[in-house]
Amino acid sequence: MSSAGPLARHLPIFDAALRAALADGPPELLRLSRYVLGWESADGSPAAAGGKRLRPLLCMEVASACGASPVDALPGAVAVELVHNFSLVHDDIQDRDLLRHGRPTAWQLIGEAQAINLGNFLYTRGLRQLAESRAPGAQLALAMLFEAVERMVAGQWLDLAFESRSDVTEAEYLDMVAGKTGALLGAAAGIGAALAGAGREQVERLRQWGERLGIAFQVHDDYLGAWGDVSATGKSTSSDIVRRKKTLPVVLAMATGAGEELRELYRSPAEDPAHTARIVQLLERAGARERTRELANSFAREAEALLASTGLTAGAAGGLYEFGRLIVERDR
Ligand code: IPE
Ligand code: IPE
Ligand code: MG
Ligand code: MG
Repeated sequence: MSSAGPLARHLPIFDAALRAALADGPPELLRLSRYVLGWESADGSPAAAGGKRLRPLLCMEVASACGASPVDALPGAVAVELVHNFSLVHDDIQDRDLLRHGRPTAWQLIGEAQAINLGNFLYTRGLRQLAESRAPGAQLALAMLFEAVERMVAGQWLDLAFESRSDVTEAEYLDMVAGKTGALLGAAAGIGAALAGAGREQVERLRQWGERLGIAFQVHDDYLGAWGDVSATGKSTSSDIVRRKKTLPVVLAMATGAGEELRELYRSPAEDPAHTARIVQLLERAGARERTRELANSFAREAEALLASTGLTAGAAGGLYEFGRLIVERDR
């Protein structure tokens, strides 16, 4: 099944709206946007290679759970997906990653400088969807998006700053991922509610639920970053270690008896694959593999408890509950 489960029913309408948002503009930037979004190969031939579209589907499902038509959420859904892809294009430069969705990253194709331009284009195009919408709730939605992007960038700052530290605590890690990943997932949920005309209190509760879920999502992403299958994730399983990222398994293992050896390995040169394999083994011996799975599940359960306090009936929120479970079971 799609990692979006029942939310995947929104995909055709969403995809059409996303394409419409990129129907005109500077030809080269549009062409590369189509590559990043997975519709085209580098040579312009048709492809089916993009991301999971989790944020826009979440946005549309929240609107639907709040009693509106998912169509009402489209300006927000398109905005969050474009902003997300802006963040991926810049993130791949920052992380020096070569592979995304099983294909060369944008900066590998066009160089860092032009990939910065491409990211900026996707960002602006994303914001415009909400800025130019006259829907009631669009102003609130835009304010939430701005807030989320600021927090996302601050989270990215911490993520990079942590590369050169070996004393990152679990609390610092959680603060970092709440920003880099939680903020935009939370905004996707809150924006869906705002565009559905929900009251401020419910909007905020749904935003908080989405943010918790985003933390669970990132913890599971860290798991996949070490123990995932590259043919499913389309991302490298060595890059986090090579970049000396303080993913949750690493933070957990550093706090155990294996911490000393891990710090020592993290101080030595990175590129050797045998070296990466030794680090992964050490993480496993420290119990960090199981503990990371447990924590992803426990954040997902915390999110579930928050969902129960949003004022939505279990029936209306059924798709959101299922989505919350799939987030920590996905293999891509
Ligand atoms: C990847 O997010 C970036 C993170 C915040 C971990 P997704 O896994 O949702 O990205 P795509 O869009 O499906 O590739
Ligand atoms: C990405 O985080 C977060 C943002 C793009 C804001 P990661 O760097 O951990 O995600 P992947 O593994 O590259 O998708
Ligand atoms: Mg990255
Ligand atoms: Mg990153």
